[in-house]
Amino acid sequence: MHKNLFVTGIGTGIGKTITSAILARAVNYPYWKPIQCGDLHFSDEDRVKSLCPGVEVLPGRYRLKAPESPHAASNREGVEISLGDFSPPPGPTVIEGAGGILVPLNQRNLIIDLVPIFQASVVVVAQYYLGSINHTLLTLNELKRRDLKILGIVFNGEKNQESKDIILAHHTLPVLLELPVLADVSAESVGEYVEILRRTVHVHL
Ligand SMILES: Nc1ncnc2c1ncn2[C@@H]1O[C@H](COP(=O)(O)OP(=O)(O)O)[C@@H](O)[C@H]1O
Ligand SMILES: [Mg+2]
Repeated sequence: MHKNLFVTGIGTGIGKTITSAILARAVNYPYWKPIQCGDLHFSDEDRVKSLCPGVEVLPGRYRLKAPESPHAASNREGVEISLGDFSPPPGPTVIEGAGGILVPLNQRNLIIDLVPIFQASVVVVAQYYLGSINHTLLTLNELKRRDLKILGIVFNGEKNQESKDIILAHHTLPVLLELPVLADVSAESVGEYVEILRRTVHVHL
């Protein structure tokens, strides 16, 4: 059974970190960001620590300075990311990817290639914007084409029922959470969504 949860998004800046934080609290798993590119002064790990008091944050494998794709940020530092650098975390963990699923790690491999290594089920974070139906369906299609288990989808931000209906007409998937735009993002303000996600996730784990 898949216990690791791999949080990906339909793009970058889509809400993976906020979703990972809520999810880590909901299931009470540690959080792990294997590859961080940029924002090292206030990384995704730091943001999760502030949103998730009490949740363990595992040390990342790569901390790269440039706010670029992993293949480019690692190149800049003269290192090559290899799939062999990664192994599954010691216990069930919420793992945050970098960017979307087809982001390159190096000349050959993509972020999505880590999912089988981590033996993880995937949580897809989507947002509604012009072009987002296309990005969401492409992401879900590719995950299915590779026979990866999709635990469900999280819709983040302003709601669009019509877009949601189209996406779900193509993919029968649990909607784990619909997270509205929060006026402030804090450990307190995400609390009620931790409770909602806890209920939906446990049905599907
Ligand atoms: N539902 C939301 N309400 C308010 N701000 C949000 C929401 N979702 C994301 N954000 C903000 O948008 C930015 C990008 O979100 P983040 O979770 O870091 O995305 P990603 O990890 O995919 O890059 C962050 O500053 C985050 O706090
Ligand atoms: Mg992030």
